Amino acid sequence: MIETICNAPQPERERKRLFIKTYGCQMNVYDSERMRDLLAPLGYELVEAPEGVDLVIFNTCHIREKAAEKVYSELGRFKPLKEEKAKTGQPMTITVAGCVAQAEGTEIRRRAPFVDLVVGPQTYHKLPELIASVHRERGEALNTEFEVEKKFDVLAAPERQADSVAAFVTIQEGCDKFCTFCVVPYTRGAQWSRPVDQVVTEVRDLAARGVREVTLLGQNVNAYHGAAPTNDAGGGAWRLGRLVRHLAKVDAIERIRFTTSHPKDMDDDLIWTFADEPKLMPYFHLPVQSGSDRILKAMNRSHTASEYIGIIEKLRAVRPDIAISGDMIVGFPGETEEDFEATMELVRQVNYASCFSFKYSRRPGTPGAAMFGQIDERVKSERLGRLQALLADQQAAFNTSMVGKTLPVLFEREGRDPGQLSGRSPYLQAVHCDGPVGLIRQIAHVEILAATKNALSGRLIDKDSVAA
Ligand code: 5AD
Ligand code: SF4
Repeated sequence: MIETICNAPQPERERKRLFIKTYGCQMNVYDSERMRDLLAPLGYELVEAPEGVDLVIFNTCHIREKAAEKVYSELGRFKPLKEEKAKTGQPMTITVAGCVAQAEGTEIRRRAPFVDLVVGPQTYHKLPELIASVHRERGEALNTEFEVEKKFDVLAAPERQADSVAAFVTIQEGCDKFCTFCVVPYTRGAQWSRPVDQVVTEVRDLAARGVREVTLLGQNVNAYHGAAPTNDAGGGAWRLGRLVRHLAKVDAIERIRFTTSHPKDMDDDLIWTFADEPKLMPYFHLPVQSGSDRILKAMNRSHTASEYIGIIEKLRAVRPDIAISGDMIVGFPGETEEDFEATMELVRQVNYASCFSFKYSRRPGTPGAAMFGQIDERVKSERLGRLQALLADQQAAFNTSMVGKTLPVLFEREGRDPGQLSGRSPYLQAVHCDGPVGLIRQIAHVEILAATKNALSGRLIDKDSVAA
């Protein structure tokens, strides 16, 4: 569809201003970039301030907190902007996209009738068409049905990623796990994987534009089951390990990562890929959510704490330096001090390189929200404080353990200070050192001299091999 729009004879294009506000995860950042690219052929240019723009998109996230309420209050701010714009004789089209749109479509139209368009995550490819129809009649345009396949067919790799060194590629969407705290299965729909051929085409295209690292994205990425490439005589679906090894054959791609995984979908092939495929980076994000089997059961996680530890042990057996990251929730309904202590114990056992931690937040419509034994906010905060202190110590210790080591760093951009470069270690740590700009998009060795909570700094070792 992008090509059709680009190649069709076009009238002199009017420039229109587009403002996008993105909430939530990497997947949403990626979706926003795609929406922007999809609208560019229609003359929409992204601007940084919302005043006087022609089109506003709120790309929303429903996963935590009172996300929907935040969107309503933010929307309220835009009503006067829309009225102001109307005085100039030009409309401002307000669109709500993303998971809140999926979950609350009708409610949004009721509470914020000045919203012109509500688009669920599966129908972004129809945005140009929908916006055109709003312009035509400024009427009905509620579009949140699931149409995952078509969406991927139509959306090309985001343009802006072309100048970046590291890019994201969505390979899977949706989730069938129904953890009792989570809205994703309701908002993003059933699990679906992109066919291997499509992923390969996108990665080759990114590589040709200078991308050196790809992160494969999916809500349940290691549940990947993509249709085999057309030239695979065996047919059948490919799992993630096989896909990673296949993508590693794209020469210019030097590093591969993927996120986010579920313990239940770990297979030995994927574990071995960390040992056998040097382009797969030794950093692995595997959420566990709790260390208490009782709470894990109530969360419907379908794994125990020791099964999780077992996976980590296997990974460390095949790839001893692997950095482990995770997600943790404290204060799930019914969590006792003993359950929380089991979480702390699991964290001590795993010894995380980094870990996200959240207070349980009641998401309407999820089973957790209706459970007895909701935990007092003060208790949640106090537990979160203890957990985060432990995690901060572990992260600091992990970073400090790099001092004195020499790490291969993929340089992504110039640093904040003149003459400085900024890149990433294999373990996803930010690394700063002095060096020539010619090193951007390349991997060079850096001797690590200092570590902080969030970054490493050091001295370039092999700069002489690179043109300034
Ligand atoms: N409350 C707190 N944290 C949540 N997460 C998802 N839903 C909730 C919720 N209702 C966290 C989980 C998940 C991460 C993306 O967000 O830890 O892995
Ligand atoms: Fe949500 Fe659980 Fe699915 Fe992750 S695995 S997206 S936490 S339901």
